Amino acid sequence: MANSENNVAIVTGASRGIGAAIAERLAADGFTVVVNYAGNAKAAEELVDRIEAAGGKALAAQADVSDAAAVTRLFDRTEAALGGVDVLVNNAGIMKLTTIAEGDEAFVDNQIAINLKGSINTMREAARRLRTGGRIINLSSSVVGLYQPTYGVYAATKAGIEAMTHVLSKELRGRNITVNAVAPGPTATSLFLDGKPQAVVDNMAKLAPLERLGQPGDIANAIAFLAGPDGAWINGQVLRANGGII
Ligand SMILES: NC(=O)c1ccc[n+]([C@@H]2O[C@H](COP(=O)([O-])OP(=O)(O)OC[C@H]3O[C@@H](n4cnc5c(N)ncnc54)[C@H](OP(=O)(O)O)[C@@H]3O)[C@@H](O)[C@H]2O)c1
Repeated sequence: MANSENNVAIVTGASRGIGAAIAERLAADGFTVVVNYAGNAKAAEELVDRIEAAGGKALAAQADVSDAAAVTRLFDRTEAALGGVDVLVNNAGIMKLTTIAEGDEAFVDNQIAINLKGSINTMREAARRLRTGGRIINLSSSVVGLYQPTYGVYAATKAGIEAMTHVLSKELRGRNITVNAVAPGPTATSLFLDGKPQAVVDNMAKLAPLERLGQPGDIANAIAFLAGPDGAWINGQVLRANGGII
């Protein structure tokens, strides 16, 4: 991508957490950003206001990524409003923790529907529609590698996303589109923090040699590199952004 001006990025799950930091960073880099969300319209609209107040361009767009038709409409609306799509950041995700023995059917189905099928839904549309020079960046997790107890189903969805990343990078041969994944370690968002006792959080923060939790901005920096001109030669890779935890 020659430069980020006039290029359009869809960031899924951008109303909060890591996705919001990615949207703000890509907007600061010159992208027009589509701030996708599932249910939190207020947070998405407030983020659009913040981006615009800082001189960037953004719009909010509701779509449940697990619904293939809704994802098609998200891309249709983006093309109609902004002329095309150059970057997809597949960030929307949920994490539920329990052992494989304890997890019921809904526990399994929800994570597969949103994390894995949701990413497949958006990758399908991106593969069909991204303009030449485009970028697809998927959010995996460093649990693919750490494999802690209770993370089995979540890790399986992220391992599937890594597999799709490698395959799609090859399927897009000749289109000048790269497909990569970023795999954060523990990052200070509600997905990681909610329901964990402070002692567990403190313990996990010390696991990486850099001895702190990741911040959403740390992950946005890695995404911005892959989305921008300096990332042009990186393709089919998984970048673990985790302070060295694994
Ligand atoms: N935080 C970590 O430690 C960590 C580590 C490794 C990887 N990750 C990955 O990083 C990504 C972002 O995580 P986060 O920590 O920022 O999570 P978060 O703070 O819980 O935010 C999740 C975002 O995803 C959206 N979302 C949830 N279900 C959706 C659906 N069906 N369709 C569209 N959007 C949906 C939410 O939208 P609403 O606000 O509308 O609900 C929200 O914007 C996830 O893929 C996660 O697996 C996180």
